[in-house]
Amino acid sequence: MDLVLLDDYDALSREAAARILETIAVKPDATLLLATGETPMGAYRELAEALARNPRDLSRLRPVQLDEYLDLEADDDRSLWGWMERAVVRPLGVPTGNVIRLAADGEDPEVAIASYEAALRAAGGIDLAVLGLGPNGHLGFNEPPAPADAPTRTVTLTPESVASNARYWGGAERVPRRAVTAGLDIILAARRTLLLVSGEPKRHILQRAVAGPVTPDVPASWLQRIEGVTLLADRAAWGPSAAVGRG
Ligand code: F6R
Repeated sequence: MDLVLLDDYDALSREAAARILETIAVKPDATLLLATGETPMGAYRELAEALARNPRDLSRLRPVQLDEYLDLEADDDRSLWGWMERAVVRPLGVPTGNVIRLAADGEDPEVAIASYEAALRAAGGIDLAVLGLGPNGHLGFNEPPAPADAPTRTVTLTPESVASNARYWGGAERVPRRAVTAGLDIILAARRTLLLVSGEPKRHILQRAVAGPVTPDVPASWLQRIEGVTLLADRAAWGPSAAVGRG
């Protein structure tokens, strides 16, 4: 795992955007697995601004949804698809039909999972995964404990994830309890991965993820075992004196 240490959140966002752009430049039909959550929002803004300055043909880009809440009405503001559409798909001008979605409105989750997996196979897997780190070490909603081959599936959010998601929707009572997540099998097979981590509250779990034992109890620790992972962390998240495994 390579570590790129950035001064602050803005620098992290610019670096992440530059790396996403590199992928798009090399492969205009790249499949990009894109997290929602707060951390990558700056990167998506920077990316949209860079593309407004230097337009590129994004008509073949394939954004891929990472996770989705269940049990919401189709037009509910809390849908992670809606968030992804507002934050990245629309600002970039990528055709909505290009997106490989997970659990589209009202669909039976098992049917949705089967078509998601089939679409990903047809697209040749993930070229670049852009991930955030959950407070309990989750990637997507792969809640601990999660083995490296955890498949795409429906999950129940842990109390820690509910508490963390509460800041998105104005309180824990507004956080859906069930979700569907891309499996670790898909996430860990990405050809390249950017793990974005910002802020002091992530410091402890970040150290467990990148320098602690590789264990299902910290799903992000599986990233230590794969190639092509770059950790972009700001100083607040990294702390003054920590070590990172490389390889
Ligand atoms: C979001 C997602 C989550 C978040 C993680 C960190 O689609 O899958 O795994 O990336 O919970 O969230 P933030 O960035 O809000 O701290």
